[in-house]
Amino acid sequence: MQTVTTSAALRETVADWRTPPQRIALVPTMGNLHDGHLSLIRCARQAGDRVVASIFVNPLQFSAAEDFEGYRRTLDMDAGKLREAGVDLLFAPVDAEIYPHGHRNVTAVEVPVLSTMLCGEFRPGHFRGVATVVAKLFNLVQPDVAVFGEKDYQQLLVIRRMVTDLDFPVRIIAAPTVRETDGLAMSSRNGYLAAGERQRAAVLYETLSAIRDAIMGGLRDYGALEAEGRLRLERAGFRPDYVAVRRSADLLPAGASDRNLAILGAAWLGRARLIDNLQLGLSNG
Ligand code: PAF
Repeated sequence: MQTVTTSAALRETVADWRTPPQRIALVPTMGNLHDGHLSLIRCARQAGDRVVASIFVNPLQFSAAEDFEGYRRTLDMDAGKLREAGVDLLFAPVDAEIYPHGHRNVTAVEVPVLSTMLCGEFRPGHFRGVATVVAKLFNLVQPDVAVFGEKDYQQLLVIRRMVTDLDFPVRIIAAPTVRETDGLAMSSRNGYLAAGERQRAAVLYETLSAIRDAIMGGLRDYGALEAEGRLRLERAGFRPDYVAVRRSADLLPAGASDRNLAILGAAWLGRARLIDNLQLGLSNG
């Protein structure tokens, strides 16, 4: 695996792979890698001839209240994992390489509506930061495909929408959420859980699963199911931001006639803000 830190070196290596043409797959990350990330790499290896992974802790997607400085940076360990997973090229730029004019007044990508609901309501500016850095990575790498985890379902939809609206010639692949044995979705944030919190953390998954089961059993009062879900989380010591039953295509509130649903939750447990979602397709009739 080759590691580059500059856009020029990145472009040069990728250009070499274009003759004869090889399919290039990109996996953007912020590092602090776990098995969920490695499953994204496996998807990328299946979809492309060459795999590029990026590690960049993107300041633009952290609000002033969020701990950008405290975000765990484990570059050497991450590079070892990526090498073992079969990544061809690691792009690990410093901040000035991505934002040469600083972070204020940066040219940005705004995906409306999707970016301001759910997590966007509690993390203003977050998806603007994500869309902006992903657009830049797409322009730098010019991948044929890019892989994102379904765990960050809202992020996945924001990126899909950006790709459609701005005509990026990139196919987006959604990789299924990887879970611990008790159901907790793998996430870099799980590392912020204290031992006692870790034992309770799967209650988020259990809560969303209970809502899914109730809907599959015929319940359609989504407001009541959301309220029950919040209560269950609060009883387990979480501070929920939201529990929501939405349409999976656009994340707008679901009605009784909608067939494709996303059940989403975000909740704080100690210092960790956990998110998760389940997809549900109801048959007609
Ligand atoms: O999901 C992430 O790790 C980040 O939001 C991403 C897509 C790498 C952009 O910084």
